[in-house]
Amino acid sequence: MEHIDICDLKRDYEKYKDNVVTVCGWVRTMRNSKQTCFIELNDGTALSNVQIVVDKNTFSDADNIVRQTIGTSLKVEGDMVLTPGNKQPFEISARNIEVLGESPSDYPLQKKAQTLEFLRTIPHLRVRTNTFNAMFRLRSELAFGIHDFFRANNFTYVHTPIITGSDCEGAGEVFNVTAHKYGETFESEEEFDATDFFRKKAYLTVSGQLEGETMAMGLGKIYTFGPTFRAENSYTPKHAAEFWMIEPEVAFADLDDLLDLAQRMIKHITKHCLDKCGDELVFFRDFYEKGLLDKLTIVANSDYAVCEYGEAVRLLDKADRKFEYPVSWGIDLQTEHERYLTEEIFKRPTFVTNYPKDIKAFYMKQNPDGKTVAASDLLVPGIGEIIGGSQREDDYDKLTAAMTERGMDLAPYRNYLDLRKYGSVPHAGFGLGFDRMLMYITGIGNIRDTIPYPRTTGFMA
Ligand code: 4AD
Ligand code: MG
Repeated sequence: MEHIDICDLKRDYEKYKDNVVTVCGWVRTMRNSKQTCFIELNDGTALSNVQIVVDKNTFSDADNIVRQTIGTSLKVEGDMVLTPGNKQPFEISARNIEVLGESPSDYPLQKKAQTLEFLRTIPHLRVRTNTFNAMFRLRSELAFGIHDFFRANNFTYVHTPIITGSDCEGAGEVFNVTAHKYGETFESEEEFDATDFFRKKAYLTVSGQLEGETMAMGLGKIYTFGPTFRAENSYTPKHAAEFWMIEPEVAFADLDDLLDLAQRMIKHITKHCLDKCGDELVFFRDFYEKGLLDKLTIVANSDYAVCEYGEAVRLLDKADRKFEYPVSWGIDLQTEHERYLTEEIFKRPTFVTNYPKDIKAFYMKQNPDGKTVAASDLLVPGIGEIIGGSQREDDYDKLTAAMTERGMDLAPYRNYLDLRKYGSVPHAGFGLGFDRMLMYITGIGNIRDTIPYPRTTGFMA
């Protein structure tokens, strides 16, 4: 269909002065006066609309156009008229309008703004609102910014499996993958597994890290960027059952290198969004988080705080605040603690390092104190954790000891253990929650509004 994308028209509108142009889009609003009908048309390529002006006196099909409603799709041919001094620098004076698809009056997105909760029930239509138009363009741009960063830093992008035989985080929050049908009966769990599709247990991956580590031991620096799945029963604004993670893994690196990499990455991708999605971020500032642009400018340009877990516990213990979960050395930090640290104490993104080994995964590098591991989470105001990572245990004996201590079956991890047998090297990596990063960049308060089709416990639209 011959037409111009509205984003291109807006970028170069002066070039089209007095030309006849064709645009397509959906009607966002219609306003009628005696002589004229004004249509705000949006084709999704830009946040803002194009104004179409229909002169009722001269337009042959005016009656048909005037009766159209919000949501109708149109193809419009008309003259580009520059309107210096107006809010919009140009409009299109219609010559011809083809109605592509009418939209009856039960179209849910009428002029009145709908709540985000309601919009979650219509994921197939909410993308036509400003909020989701802006969100999904930012989501796309953020992904490009991430690839851009790693590519410029000698990382190879690898695809790790989605169906896997191991639970990387060891938290038991996996979705099982099975080809067995309802109603089949089995003598035992062993028989269930042995007769299943893979002849053994299979899960949807909770993290690409273990396979990422193997790739890094041959490619040096890798990153994954893919969907991950967790059957966590956490019904919170920041937990999704299906979310995307970016997991770099770096050979010849320790915890300090990891913090440096994470900070440079967050700065780069924030800057990228500021550069590429100015209109969208202004929209989020105006409607969702006052001060958003100032916040992002600081995130892109100044250094983050670093605080040891032990010190974090001391600070929380001293805090003039009653927490729902009491604080003492050894506890896993809860969102309320994480937010207090980053919002009230450090007032900027904060790396917490060297957590107690008992609350972290088996693969983390054991520190000489025998109590902590070389791990780090990055906490940000408004959300809490957005990155979790660590240096990895590269000593075969220490690693197997940590696994045995946790009662893990070593068999599914044989290949992983081989990495510690053949040319083991210090290495480190982290996982950035992509959807949480998007919450942070847009100021939107719920992860369900960053994902086109969110999945959470009890909810799959
Ligand atoms: O801290 P996590 O569990 O770390 C890992 O999975 C490591 N294997 C990563 C690595 O070292 N390669 O998860 C990493 C990040 C979290 O910081 C959080 O941002 C995000 O993934 N995340 C979730 N995001 C949305 N919904 C959930 N249920 C999430 N669980 C984790
Ligand atoms: Mg974590």
